[in-house]
Amino acid sequence: MDNKANIAVLVSGGGTNLQALIDAEKSGIIEHGDIELVISNVRDAYALTRAKEAGIKTAVVLKRELGSQEAFEQRIMDLLAAHDIDLIVLAGFMSILSAEFTSRYPERIINVHPSLIPSFCGKGYYGLKVHEAALEYGVKVTGATVHFVNEIPDGGRILLQKAVDILPDDTPETLQLRVMQEAEWIILPKAVELVSADILKTAGKPV
Ligand code: GAR
Repeated sequence: MDNKANIAVLVSGGGTNLQALIDAEKSGIIEHGDIELVISNVRDAYALTRAKEAGIKTAVVLKRELGSQEAFEQRIMDLLAAHDIDLIVLAGFMSILSAEFTSRYPERIINVHPSLIPSFCGKGYYGLKVHEAALEYGVKVTGATVHFVNEIPDGGRILLQKAVDILPDDTPETLQLRVMQEAEWIILPKAVELVSADILKTAGKPV
């Protein structure tokens, strides 16, 4: 950290939320943070290509190769320390982190979830499954939430939320895309900026 919070983004898939963060840093929406590192737990995640194209360092950490959750998380912690990371952003990261991990970074890990928490969240609710559940229940409004990560899956303090209407002909796929476009890609960069500025203030840096 000099005059910006160092950010690591953890990904598993397509990385459209990572792209929203890269674009927001370029456009100045994220003013007080700098994406330093992208870590993927999936070897061929397209998010890695997005990171490389933006000139961001990448790392792949595979639980299968490391043999245990402890070793997997230790490797991530080593990378975070080596890159002097101040803020960890889970952007489509499809692996639940243990309480041992999350308790090391209180209010320094944020996650984007594709529903209005506390609806359709917690263990088993991720990606398309969240939108399938919302359509099956028949809610008329859904959205996205950015929250701090603690030991309870999707249970940390809420930072930002944005509602999105469900349309009569929605499929899980159309709904997923609209929730991303109208909510996730907007509130995730905003939350990253808010928390980055706060981290600098807490460290006594000029904001
Ligand atoms: C996003 O919709 C994100 O909210 C969701 O996975 C998608 C990842 O897309 N995350 C979760 O469900 C976490 N519980 P992306 O890789 O294109 O950003």
